[in-house]
Amino acid sequence: MIPLLPPLPTLLLLFLAVSFHGLQLASSLNQEGRYLLQAKRGLVDAGNSLSTWDDRDATPCKWAGVSCSDSDPPSVVAVNLTGFDLEGPFPSFLCRLPSLASLVLSINLINSSLHAASFDSCNALSHLDLSQNNLVGPLPDALAKLPNLTYLDLTGNNFSGAIPLSFGRFPHIQTLSLVSNLLDSTIPSFLGNLITLRELNLGFNPFDAGPIPDTLGNLSKLENLYLADCNLVGEIPPTLGQLSRLTNLDLSTNQLSGSIPQSLTGLSSIIQIELFKNSLTGRIPTGFSKLATLLRFDASLNQLEGPLPEDIFDAPQLQSLHLHTNQLSGRIPVGISRSKSLLDVRLYQNQLNGFLPADFGKNSPLEVLDLSTNNLSGKIPTSICERGALKQLILIQNVLSGSLPDGLGRCQTLNRVRLQSNFLSGPVPIGLWGLPHVSLLDLRDNAFSGEISPAISGAANLSTLLIDDNQFSGSIPSEMGALSRLYEFSAVNNRLIGPLPSSLGNLVELGRLKLHNNSLSGELLQGIQSWKKLVELDLSDNGFKGGIPPELGSLPVLNYLDLSSNDLTGEIPIQLQNLKLNRFNFSDNDLSGAIPPAFANEAYRSNFLGNPGLCGDIPGLCPISEEAAGNHHGFTWLLLSIFMLAGLVFVAGIAWFCWRYRKYKKATDKSKWTLRSFHKFGFNEYEILDSLDEDNVIGSGASGKVYKVMLSNGEAVAVKKLWQTPKADAENTEQLVDDAFEAEVATLGKIRHKSIVKLWCCCTHKDRKLLVYEYMPNGSLGDLLHSSKAGILDWPTRYKIALDAAEGFSYLHHDCVPPIVHRDVKSNNILLDGEFGAKVADFGVAKAVEMIGKGPKTMSVIAGSCGYIAPEYAYTLRVNEKSDIYSFGVVILELVTGKLPVDPEYGEKDLVKWVFSIIEQKGVEHVIDPMLDVCYKEEISRVLDIGLLCASSLPINRPSMRRVVKMLQEVRPQNKSKAGEKDGKLSPYYYEV
Ligand SMILES: *[C@@H]1O[C@H](CO)[C@@H](O)[C@H](O)[C@H]1NC(C)=O
Ligand SMILES: *[C@@H]1O[C@H](CO)[C@@H](O)[C@H](O)[C@H]1NC(C)=O
Repeated sequence: MIPLLPPLPTLLLLFLAVSFHGLQLASSLNQEGRYLLQAKRGLVDAGNSLSTWDDRDATPCKWAGVSCSDSDPPSVVAVNLTGFDLEGPFPSFLCRLPSLASLVLSINLINSSLHAASFDSCNALSHLDLSQNNLVGPLPDALAKLPNLTYLDLTGNNFSGAIPLSFGRFPHIQTLSLVSNLLDSTIPSFLGNLITLRELNLGFNPFDAGPIPDTLGNLSKLENLYLADCNLVGEIPPTLGQLSRLTNLDLSTNQLSGSIPQSLTGLSSIIQIELFKNSLTGRIPTGFSKLATLLRFDASLNQLEGPLPEDIFDAPQLQSLHLHTNQLSGRIPVGISRSKSLLDVRLYQNQLNGFLPADFGKNSPLEVLDLSTNNLSGKIPTSICERGALKQLILIQNVLSGSLPDGLGRCQTLNRVRLQSNFLSGPVPIGLWGLPHVSLLDLRDNAFSGEISPAISGAANLSTLLIDDNQFSGSIPSEMGALSRLYEFSAVNNRLIGPLPSSLGNLVELGRLKLHNNSLSGELLQGIQSWKKLVELDLSDNGFKGGIPPELGSLPVLNYLDLSSNDLTGEIPIQLQNLKLNRFNFSDNDLSGAIPPAFANEAYRSNFLGNPGLCGDIPGLCPISEEAAGNHHGFTWLLLSIFMLAGLVFVAGIAWFCWRYRKYKKATDKSKWTLRSFHKFGFNEYEILDSLDEDNVIGSGASGKVYKVMLSNGEAVAVKKLWQTPKADAENTEQLVDDAFEAEVATLGKIRHKSIVKLWCCCTHKDRKLLVYEYMPNGSLGDLLHSSKAGILDWPTRYKIALDAAEGFSYLHHDCVPPIVHRDVKSNNILLDGEFGAKVADFGVAKAVEMIGKGPKTMSVIAGSCGYIAPEYAYTLRVNEKSDIYSFGVVILELVTGKLPVDPEYGEKDLVKWVFSIIEQKGVEHVIDPMLDVCYKEEISRVLDIGLLCASSLPINRPSMRRVVKMLQEVRPQNKSKAGEKDGKLSPYYYEV
């Protein structure tokens, strides 16, 4: 019998065949493609960067980031996934690609450590770039065994530990880059064995203090040696001078000492020499003029002395010479005027003297010239901008004299001109007033005369015009109203006359107008609605007359108003009460009428003196004249008696009333308190209100008094009562206190972190404000550390405190959105709990409270406390995370040295400078707190190094707070954490007077 249908087993076979065929279709992808897909599977591809990696293709050769050979069949030779945002462990499947010669995974989130096995079959690799990832752990020996590896870049990861011995045995390595990791120990001398090396980049690692191995002089093929910020000490080995192919030598930001070796003048291929920010001493050797290719030489921020070598500017291609902030003396060699290549010369902060060569600028296309803070004399050379490229001319604080060369008025490229504090005289070339790109023109403190030219209307980019302390005369040209970018115009102490041109009212960007002590006259401006950004208006000591325009009261950010010593008449407009004035002065005018009530208090008396017609509630401000008083003598006496009697009755009544009412008072008062709580807590606000006795005060600071309150449940809380606005200070300070309170509450309330003091709740009642915090039984670090009880704090405790606090600040900087800048980091704001765990306290309030505390003289609010303020604050007046980090560096130094941040013992210096100088003169032992156990010396000096790094004078060199935490953890290996984080510290060095 022939079956009509195929039997069941045949069907099954058929089905299987079909599905097998289907399977074949889906996997027509070759083996290499499958390896790549397997690698992809191990990674999180959040940005879908690998969407072209499709298993329906026959080969992976068209996939994003994949390159194949031309051979038949093609094989994958390169994988480049730069910036694909891939996250996960190192994809070791890629190593199964038998011909893979180049693997680039730069700028991703690869976050494992590298195991030997990862590279087992990567034998064809010659180019491996894993830079800018989050790789952790030790550098694997396996890398050095890759037979064909020529290029290895692991920059910008978190590799830690020492550079392994195996790294001295790469057979063909040409480029080795380990920049910005967490490598420690010292730079090993066996790197001198890698004679095939062309690039050795080890910068920005927290190595232990150690020398530059002189074996590096054996690397005869080396072209690039980058050892910036490697904690190098000792002298620069003269052997480096043998590196005849070297084009870039960067040893900046270390603690190298001794002098610059003469041998460096033998670097016959060198293009760039960077030695800035070390402790180099002695003279700069002669001979650099031999270097035919030298473009840039930077040895600024050292202690170099003696004269500049006579031939230094004769290096035929020298473009940039930075030797600022040294102790160089003598004259500037005449070679400077012969050079045909000079672009950028910064020699500020030295003791250079003598004249500038007369034809300086004739030959070179000079762009930046900064010779500030020297003793240079004579005239500014007429040819200074002859090549028409000069952008910055900065000659602050010298003894230059004579008039400005006319050529400057034709120097169209100029954008910053600072000639402050010289003896320059004569009129300013007309053209200079109106140069189109100048944004800053600073002529202060000279003997300039003549008028501000109407040509100033051409200065379309001028934002800061400072001409204080000169002899400028004539009137302010109305053309100044065309300067739409003008932010500050300061012409204090000159001889300007005439009225303020009404066009000034159009200046929308104007923030500061300071015309104190001139001979200006006429009425004050009307039509100033455009002054939305005006912060400071000082027209004092002039001859202005007429009334004070009420519209001044509508300027939204005006906080400094000085109209004193003019001939102003009429009343003080009540509208001025709308301003939040930090400082104001109406004295010595002819003002009359009533003082607006908000200003009427004793503290402001001196702001109104010398206006005989002015009356107000300030006692004694408007004395009643003799006769007037005499006429009404009897009547006044009668009135007085009646009032006294009435007063007595009233006082007695009040006393009785109070006595009767006392016991009810608290209860009724309490009902009006409003409460905002941020955590669950087991107490109520009345318990707290009842315990605010003076007996319980545990501290008192800028922002208020702190009480310790024992609750009925046996727990303690700390209650901060913010200072009540003193009546005398009236409106503007009240606002500040409110702002301070809101700031602290708003920020603290949101925060939950083990290293930040917990805010339980806050209570407000009218102007009384209470903040209830967790109680920290061991008080502040500052109090403890600088008291007789400092001995309790042994090294492990201090180390833990540093780490805890660092974590707190790191949380504020990196994990809060927006980031929180503490603004007042100091040991007194680090509190200690029962186990000496440290928590950060007291932020938000700092800023506003200090505004209140300062006397009326200070305009700018100093952010931070004495001894903790970052040096750049002096010229930027800005605080940011970097200023916190500096202050935290000071706290670390306090922990290590046990010393106060400022102390007469240090002379002119503060703790930071003192520590630097003692280490330099006597060594690290001499700064460590003698109370600490010597067996921790190693650890202590590593923490000290972190503190010094934080307290770097250049903000750019300070590590991020997150990195500080990492580095502190590395000091005690049991604290190492796995999470990876980078801190890009590769930004270019930049500093300017
Ligand atoms: C890798 O790709 C990036 C971005 O496409 C490119 O800039 C880089 O030169 C490539 N690297 C190599 C070694 O091909
Ligand atoms: C190493 O490179 C050489 C020369 O380019 C090549 O012949 C050899 O096959 C490579 N080795 C491996 C394991 O790929």
